[in-house]
Amino acid sequence: MRALITGGAGFIGANFVHQTLQDRPDVAVTVLDKLTYAGSRDSLADVADRITFVEGDIADADVVDPLVAESDVVVHFAAESHNDNSLNDPSPFLHTNITGTFALLEAVRRHGTRLHHISTDEVYGDLELDDPAKFTEQTPYNPSSPYSATKAGSDLLVRAWVRSFGVAATISNCSNNYGPYQHIEKFIPRQITNLIDGVKPKLYGAGQNVRDWIHVRDHNRAVWDIIDRGRIGQTYLIGADGEKNNKEVIELILELMGHEPGDYEHVADRPGHDLRYAIDNTVLREELGWQPQFPDFRSGLADTIEWYRENESWWRPRKAEVEAKYAKQGQ
Ligand code: NAD
Ligand code: TYD
Repeated sequence: MRALITGGAGFIGANFVHQTLQDRPDVAVTVLDKLTYAGSRDSLADVADRITFVEGDIADADVVDPLVAESDVVVHFAAESHNDNSLNDPSPFLHTNITGTFALLEAVRRHGTRLHHISTDEVYGDLELDDPAKFTEQTPYNPSSPYSATKAGSDLLVRAWVRSFGVAATISNCSNNYGPYQHIEKFIPRQITNLIDGVKPKLYGAGQNVRDWIHVRDHNRAVWDIIDRGRIGQTYLIGADGEKNNKEVIELILELMGHEPGDYEHVADRPGHDLRYAIDNTVLREELGWQPQFPDFRSGLADTIEWYRENESWWRPRKAEVEAKYAKQGQ
């Protein structure tokens, strides 16, 4: 089986490549990645001789078509993925998330290739803090930011290509991931690398916003379960019952790194900041038998801190630029 993994040099995609090579010796891996600021060849350096790597844009039909033609499944991770960036300049989000997904859909339609589209729970908008409800596969779409709006658009394109053209696709919408190889612009690795640098963690607003954390390996195992056993045309929600507010997460990072829990600073809040995300994972558990293997956030976070301590050469070249960008925004 040949799998074309788009965005395989990014955070979740690189973990997916590593896990696939480890767990699925029957699968030959091709990565298609544009190597934007978010992608890094270093994330695949230890497996470079075991994969085919193509540097290119998913929106370029001439690049995409022959790769899709020779593949049995396309696992589509490539995206512009950071909310804060989408507030500064939405344009690349439209290009990659919408036009890029469109180009892939046309290619899988031409060649009859199976597609799994990776998406986010942020397409559903947000929940109130005191609401017992969680997102389900039936929750109406209500995205807040240019990032989540373009991901919602890409999901709807996939649904339309399934219904109108019979494309063999599945979709998954996952909650916030953490683990190795995550870009240091994101919440958890930003705070870990700040502390390594002797800088206080930065909390947006009052820090009451809730995210539903899942270890990246649990996300990726669910993706393979869906590729193996998911129903074509179906959407699956992926989450591991990991709700925590941002203040709690910062306090835990501080404690695990040997600092006082209050040793962080409040910075400007994100405009339109979604309050709470939470996933009801009943369908994934009951239909596909998926269970998280990393349900303990504290130990998963401790391992992640260790990874950033041991892999400073991976993130160091990006740190100054990321912090300069945040400083301009008062964050
Ligand atoms: P990331 O930003 O770390 O990686 C994205 C990768 O896509 C990078 O390697 C980048 O170079 C590549 N890319 C960007 N534009 C491209 C283009 N036009 N052509 C080819 N490659 C391109 O993102 P991530 O956090 O790994 O997210 C991967 C996917 O998972 C995204 O679709 C995202 O919406 C989704 N998702 C992420 C999370 C999360 O917590 N990070 C949660 C749920 C869903
Ligand atoms: P982020 O990792 O950007 O993911 P998302 O926006 O997709 O949820 O942010 C996670 C949460 O952390 C979000 O509520 C914003 C907040 N946050 C901070 O409080 N401080 C930071 O430095 C960053 C980057 C994010």
